[in-house]
Amino acid sequence: MTVIVTGGAGFIGSNFVFHMLKAHPDYRIVCVDKLTYAGNLSTLESVMNNPKFRFCKTDICDREAINKLFEEEKPDIVVNFAAESHVDRSIENPEIFLQTNILGTSVMMDASRKYGVKRYHQVSTDEVYGDLPLDRPDLFFTESTHIHTSSPYSSSKAGADLLVLAYYRTYGLPVTISRCSNNYGPYHFPEKLIPLMIANALADKPLPVYGKGENVRDWLYVEDHCKAIDLIIHNGRVGEVYNVGGHNEMKNIDIVRLICKELGKPESLITYVTDRKGHDMRYAIDPTKIHNELGWLPETKFADGIKKTIKWYLDNEKWWKDIISGEYQNYYTKMYGNR
Ligand code: NAD
Ligand code: DAU
Repeated sequence: MTVIVTGGAGFIGSNFVFHMLKAHPDYRIVCVDKLTYAGNLSTLESVMNNPKFRFCKTDICDREAINKLFEEEKPDIVVNFAAESHVDRSIENPEIFLQTNILGTSVMMDASRKYGVKRYHQVSTDEVYGDLPLDRPDLFFTESTHIHTSSPYSSSKAGADLLVLAYYRTYGLPVTISRCSNNYGPYHFPEKLIPLMIANALADKPLPVYGKGENVRDWLYVEDHCKAIDLIIHNGRVGEVYNVGGHNEMKNIDIVRLICKELGKPESLITYVTDRKGHDMRYAIDPTKIHNELGWLPETKFADGIKKTIKWYLDNEKWWKDIISGEYQNYYTKMYGNR
């Protein structure tokens, strides 16, 4: 089996590469990544010399390069993680989100059609469902919840999902889609809530909480997401969408307080800043379908996962310090300077 994994130098994609090489040692894993600001080759250092692994620095929007790669590799399965993934950046500059997330998806699916790929899997997000009100804890996103997006990021992901389903119906491309809740764990880029708060707290810098910090996210340890995708690409039904989430809803402010506690830092570092435009209130996944059909259940409890994650950031300071010492400084000043 040859599996093309796009976006494998990013957060979830790299964890998926590690998972696949371990879980399926006889598979060949080909990582396609443009190495944008969010992609880091150092993340893949431990597998670079693995004979079952190949890295290709390629843009998924580059049709010619992608076709050439498919011609060489003749992949059985394609898993498309590659995306612009940060909501705040999409509010600043939507265009690249449309290019990579929608056009890039179409390039990957055209190549998958042309070379007879047995499964094309699209890694999507619970953000395509919009948000839920805080005062209705009985409501959850199911696979039949209407698409209702808030940010340019989530709209681009929803656009891609619709295109994937259209390729299934129109061309019979054997597709599946997973829509997962917020992930956390090793190699999470420090522009996102949990790693940003860990990095800032360790440097005794302010912890910028948007609005009142009341927004709720449904956190899942990244390995559990990887295991869900592994199950879907092998046993999931073609043409189907699977929601992935672990019923672990938490308010942002509670996460930040917990990080302070774990690191022995004072809560006085918490600083309330101007809210994100169009900020989604609450995400909450109903994972009944993937549980009933594929037997998936999250294995890592949040209390353990957050400890493991904090330990990983303490043990791997070089990885994130290299990132935050570069271009990230300009990003941080632009996004947080006048907030
Ligand atoms: P990330 O930003 O950490 O990584 C994205 C990777 O894609 C990077 O390595 C980047 O270099 C690469 N990339 C970007 N544009 C590319 C292009 N044009 N061609 C090739 N490679 C390109 O993202 P992530 O958090 O790991 O998310 C991965 C996927 O999972 C995304 O599709 C995202 O929408 C989805 N998702 C993320 C979460 C989450 O909590 N992080 C939850 C649900 C779904
Ligand atoms: O739900 C899945 C989505 O989760 C993925 O599709 C996205 O790719 C991923 O980035 C994530 O989106 P969020 O917007 O939920 O994640 P983020 O870490 O950016 O923010 C989490 C919450 O924390 C959100 O309510 C905004 C808030 N926040 C974030 C940052 C970066 C703050 O309060 N302060 C911050 O500095």
